[in-house]
Amino acid sequence: MSQTDACQIQPRMAVVATSLIVENQASLLASQLKLPLISTATHFTADHYDFILLIDSAYIALQDTKLLNTKPVYIDFLAGKNAWRQKAGGQELLAKAVGCKGANKPSIIDATAGLGRDAFVLANLGCEVLMLERSAIMALLLQDGLTRLKSHSNLDNLQLVQQDALSYLDQLSESNRPEVIYLDPMYPHRTKSALVKKEMRILRALVGDDQDALALCQQAIQKAKKRVVVKRPRIAEPLLAKPDIVFSGNNSRFDVYLINNQLYK
Ligand SMILES: C[S@@+](CC[C@H](N)C(=O)[O-])C[C@H]1O[C@@H](n2cnc3c(N)ncnc32)[C@H](O)[C@@H]1O
Repeated sequence: MSQTDACQIQPRMAVVATSLIVENQASLLASQLKLPLISTATHFTADHYDFILLIDSAYIALQDTKLLNTKPVYIDFLAGKNAWRQKAGGQELLAKAVGCKGANKPSIIDATAGLGRDAFVLANLGCEVLMLERSAIMALLLQDGLTRLKSHSNLDNLQLVQQDALSYLDQLSESNRPEVIYLDPMYPHRTKSALVKKEMRILRALVGDDQDALALCQQAIQKAKKRVVVKRPRIAEPLLAKPDIVFSGNNSRFDVYLINNQLYK
């Protein structure tokens, strides 16, 4: 079992093509992901599968079978919350936390890409951003969103690699070390807070809690040249030691660890 598999839950999932023109694509993806391909006519409920991966001609989406009456989740960098954050990007605490100011545009590895929202904000600020995502399904949704984004815009500073960040950082050469490593690991929630948005609930159901977050943070401290930024719920304990700088928002905060502080090493 790979390190990736060891950290992730394995939901029951099937692939569905929503029309004839995407049947070949759906069949290819199903065999690559080792998932069953079922027809749209198949009756499925949460008793059969936790998720359905919908292959549509416009997007690839994830349907939670417990939420069949809600829209499936797919990544659209140009609409909704992403578009709003693109406009408001420069104001964000995130920009301050990574040290993006004026002409200073640090190179960033977002080691926990998820839905790609934070990475997209950082790329829009002009930073060179590499997203790492270990979930094959999330990486597929991200790549789908990224491909559509790149066909509509000339943004070329946002890239994706599907790999566990611990192994990626472990193999990182000296010349490829980024100035900043950004982490937003899944925080173990014990209550079903209404504040946790649908997409995040689905993401959690898909990937589970990130129980190796501390090891990832320690690895990031060894590899970032200038700082490591960790997003946490506002009232949560810091992941590592006391951060050097904290930027607090209403629900979350960014803990900043400066690399020249030898205490972390
Ligand atoms: C809370 S989400 C991140 C949300 C993201 N910041 C956004 O703006 O959409 C955490 C994501 O990090 C991924 N992840 C956690 N640990 C990882 C690791 N070691 N390597 C790669 N991906 C990881 C999880 O699979 C999950 O998709």
